[in-house]
Amino acid sequence: MTIGMHTARIRLHTLPATVPFGKSRPGRTVRSSAQMGGRYRIVVIGGDGIGPEVTNAALSVLDATEHRFGFAIERTVLPWSAEAYITGQRVTAEMIEPLREYDAILLGAIGHPDAPRGLPEHDIIFGLRRGLDLYVNLRPIVLYDDRLTPLRGRTTKDIDFVVVRENTEDVYGRPIIRSADGTPDETVKSEMIFTRRGTERIVRYAFELARRRPRKRLTLVDKSNALRLQEIYRSVLADLGREFPDVETDAMYVDAASMWMVLHPERFDVIVTTNLFGDIISDLGAAVVGGLGSGASGNIHPGKVSVFEPIHGSAPKYTGQGVASPVGAIGALALMLEHLGEADAARAVGAALREGFRTGRIRGLEAGSGRTMEVTEAVVGSVREGVRA
Ligand code: IPM
Ligand code: MG
Repeated sequence: MTIGMHTARIRLHTLPATVPFGKSRPGRTVRSSAQMGGRYRIVVIGGDGIGPEVTNAALSVLDATEHRFGFAIERTVLPWSAEAYITGQRVTAEMIEPLREYDAILLGAIGHPDAPRGLPEHDIIFGLRRGLDLYVNLRPIVLYDDRLTPLRGRTTKDIDFVVVRENTEDVYGRPIIRSADGTPDETVKSEMIFTRRGTERIVRYAFELARRRPRKRLTLVDKSNALRLQEIYRSVLADLGREFPDVETDAMYVDAASMWMVLHPERFDVIVTTNLFGDIISDLGAAVVGGLGSGASGNIHPGKVSVFEPIHGSAPKYTGQGVASPVGAIGALALMLEHLGEADAARAVGAALREGFRTGRIRGLEAGSGRTMEVTEAVVGSVREGVRA
C-alpha cells in the first residue's frame, strides 16, 4: 500500500471533563497503556473553541507515537477554559501548583468572546507561565512546504529559525498603576522589568540551542536605543558570548528585525528576545511560514513540567465544524515529545507533517483548507508507517 493511499483508522478522542474544575491532583487518568519504554504523566487542557478539537487530533497522533516507539503517557484532563469565567469560575495559583508533579501539559486554546477580557489570560496563560516559572517560550518558525510561504521565491531552505522569547519578565501581565482616575489627568502605567538572573537564563538557553544547530548563529532582538533599560540584554549577550565562542552573535532592533524577517528570513537562525517583542515577532514569523495555523510553542523550564500549545487562538467562528487545522497542535505535541526526551518520536511527527504537505493530504494551514480528521489521519498514517525525515 502506498503512503498516499493509506487511510489510518484512528482512535477518536473526545476530551471528557474527568476532573472537577477546581481539582487538579494527579491520579485521575483517562487511560494508561503498559508497554516497554518510558512512562510519563501529562495534563491535557483542551480549553475553548477549537482548542479541544485540535488537542484531540494531537492525542490521536500521540497514540500512534506511543505505539510505534514503545512509551506510555498517562493523561489527566482538566476542564479549564475562558468560558468557565462567564459563570465566575477562576483558575487560581493553588490549582496550578499541583501541576508541578506532572511531566508536561498539553494546552489547546484559551479565549472566549464573552469572558471578562484579559482575566482568563491573566489567570491561566500567565498563571501557568509565571506560576511554573516557564521562562522559555520556544517558537520554531519552520516552513513545512515551499507552497505555504507568502514570500515570493522562498523555499524550505530559506526559512528555518527559532524565536526564543523570554516568558516571565517585561511589562507583560504587570499590575496597572492608576492615578487621577476619571479626570483629564488620568494616568495609567505598568512597570517594565528585566533582571540579570532572568536575562541570563534566557540568553544562556538561546546560546545552548544555537550551539546545537548547524549554523550556530544567535541574534538578539531588542529596542535598546529607545528602551535604554534593555541594554541589560546587550551586556548579558556580550558576557555569555565569551562562554560560547563557537556561536556567532549579533543584535538588531525589533523594527529592523521585522523588516529582515520578511525580506531576508534566511539570515536568522536562533533569535533571543524579550517577552513583548517575542509575542509580536513570533506571529510575524508564523505569517512567513503560512499563517498562525502553523505555529507551535513550548513554555519551558528545562527539566521541569512545561506547557506546549499551538500559537493560534480559540477561533470561535470555526468551533465544532471539523475544519480547524490541527497542524499547530500536532507541532506542539512534537515539542512536548522532545521535552520528554522522546526525540525519535518528535522527529517522526515532524516528518509526518512534512509528508502530509508533500503528498497533498494536508492542503493548507487555514481553517477550512481541509478537514481536521483528514489531516489527523494523514499524520497518524505516516507516523505508523515510519515516514523518514
Ligand atoms: C501568545 C499569546 C498570549 C501572549 C496572549 C493570549 C496573552 O498571544 O501566547 O503569544 O501574549 O503571550
Ligand atoms: Mg501572541
